Amino acid sequence: MLAVTAESINPDDPLAGLVVGDRPEPASSEGWVTVSVRAAALNHHDLWTLKGVGITEDRLPMVLGGDAAGVDDNGEEVIVHSVISSPEWRGDETLDPRRSLLSERYDGTLADRVSVPRANLIPKPASLSFEEAACLPTAWLTAYRMLFVQSGIRPGETVLVQGAGGGVATALIVLARAGGYRVWVTSRSAEKQRRAIELGAHDAFDTGARLPERVDAVFETVGAATWSHSLKALRPGGTLVVSGATSGANPPADLNRVFFLQLRVIGSTMGTRDELERLARFCDVTGARPVIDSVVPLADARTAFARMDAGEVFGKIVLTP
Ligand SMILES: NC(=O)c1ccc[n+]([C@@H]2O[C@H](COP(=O)([O-])OP(=O)(O)OC[C@H]3O[C@@H](n4cnc5c(N)ncnc54)[C@H](OP(=O)(O)O)[C@@H]3O)[C@@H](O)[C@H]2O)c1
Repeated sequence: MLAVTAESINPDDPLAGLVVGDRPEPASSEGWVTVSVRAAALNHHDLWTLKGVGITEDRLPMVLGGDAAGVDDNGEEVIVHSVISSPEWRGDETLDPRRSLLSERYDGTLADRVSVPRANLIPKPASLSFEEAACLPTAWLTAYRMLFVQSGIRPGETVLVQGAGGGVATALIVLARAGGYRVWVTSRSAEKQRRAIELGAHDAFDTGARLPERVDAVFETVGAATWSHSLKALRPGGTLVVSGATSGANPPADLNRVFFLQLRVIGSTMGTRDELERLARFCDVTGARPVIDSVVPLADARTAFARMDAGEVFGKIVLTP
């Protein structure tokens, strides 16, 4: 079958280890099922893998990709939950210390077929296309958990989303708008600011700009480049939810601001299978839909990876086998 694999690790030139080519069919094990992939979405996680984050050389070659929607062995249309917890784990899968994401320990979704535990499948709502459904398991699920599970904020409050063009950021804009929040965004690009407003943001600002007033919550995936601004943007007692650090993971902590203003800093990673089901239903009943940058044949994955690496993307790139 055709698959996109990481064959080697290169922190400075991640595309050097990317191979698009023929791979053996996935092996079937007890309790696992093979899904025919109809659409798979790209995530920054796939670039991190090629840079050696969350994986070691001895696990290569590894099929990349965490997100997929497809058809299972019973002919049912399904979405794959990418968090693989250990068989004995009960409760919130994201808290299992032995959990992995697809493509970290087990082959991922950028392929004609992928094998996953049957318990990791949820039904795809008929109202979502395969391409839309493929965007949900990583970026959209992460945004859903940050906003509706971790932040503790209430509809009517004001949120700031840093780095408006990203996969998680565009999901946050759409979900926050549909959930009844006032949505502000920052972006380095005037064009991305304009598109964020088209998506439903109430206002857009340059990265690092002074805001008209302080906000109730900030949503961070950019990291070092925006961290200080995120802390400054919060009202006393406000909440910063962080799930990523694309520009660097070690900014100044600014602890004085954190304790004097009694800020809450909350980490968030992926989401549970139940949250993925709720997210799919949320999209079904509200009409909220993933923002798709482009749909590209799986065979052209290299171009798609290069665009994501260059930060040119607005929303999600979807690959179709
Ligand atoms: N913890 C989790 O479970 C989880 C899940 C998903 C993603 N993540 C992480 O979250 C991050 C974002 O993921 P993604 O898939 O949304 O990535 P993405 O689509 O590549 O988003 C990157 C966005 O970050 C902004 N950005 C990048 N570098 C910047 C800089 N130096 N200064 C200011 N803004 C910058 C850009 O926004 P503008 O161009 O608009 O300024 C860009 O659109 C990644 O690091 C990823 O690994 C974590």
